[in-house]
Amino acid sequence: MAKIGIFVGTVYGNAQMVAEKAQALLQEAGHDATVFDEGTLEEWQAYERDVVLVVTSTTGQGDLPDSIEPLFYDIKDSLGHQPSLRYGVIALGDSNYENFSGAGKKFDALLQDQEAKRVGEVLIIDSSEISEPEEFAEPWIRSWAALING
Ligand SMILES: Cc1cc2nc3c(=O)[nH]c(=O)nc-3n(C[C@H](O)[C@H](O)[C@H](O)COP(=O)(O)O)c2cc1C
Repeated sequence: MAKIGIFVGTVYGNAQMVAEKAQALLQEAGHDATVFDEGTLEEWQAYERDVVLVVTSTTGQGDLPDSIEPLFYDIKDSLGHQPSLRYGVIALGDSNYENFSGAGKKFDALLQDQEAKRVGEVLIIDSSEISEPEEFAEPWIRSWAALING
């Protein structure tokens, strides 16, 4: 059983739906999972020896939604090094845009730089092809839930 914080960045609610699905499936797999809609640095730091799942869409031109952008910069400016943290990323985007799923990729790059340990590959969800992102994400979430135990 792992303690998992799910940090959400969304504009229109799709990433929120994926995050809630992830919470339900992770709990079903026996984990302690909590969703943070506008997560703060303090909430993030409560997981520094545990696991986080970042679920974020991309807005503007490859930008992070307002609901998660302050957290990104707080982590970048204040933390520096997070070697005890394990994490996953679900990146929502639309491949018609130039910076496809740029926000999730940016978050992954930041956490890699800070030496956090990624569990599994980044899940990319392309809204130009997928109409039910939470259903599409289900197999990935189930296998991620198992990888965390390993
Ligand atoms: C104004 C606007 C700008 C967007 N910019 C990007 C972008 O730069 N890159 C990308 O991959 N997707 C972009 N998207 C697509 C969204 O990330 C995608 O539709 C996502 O599923 C929305 O999820 P949300 O409802 O959680 O915000 C943009 C969508 C809108 C409406």
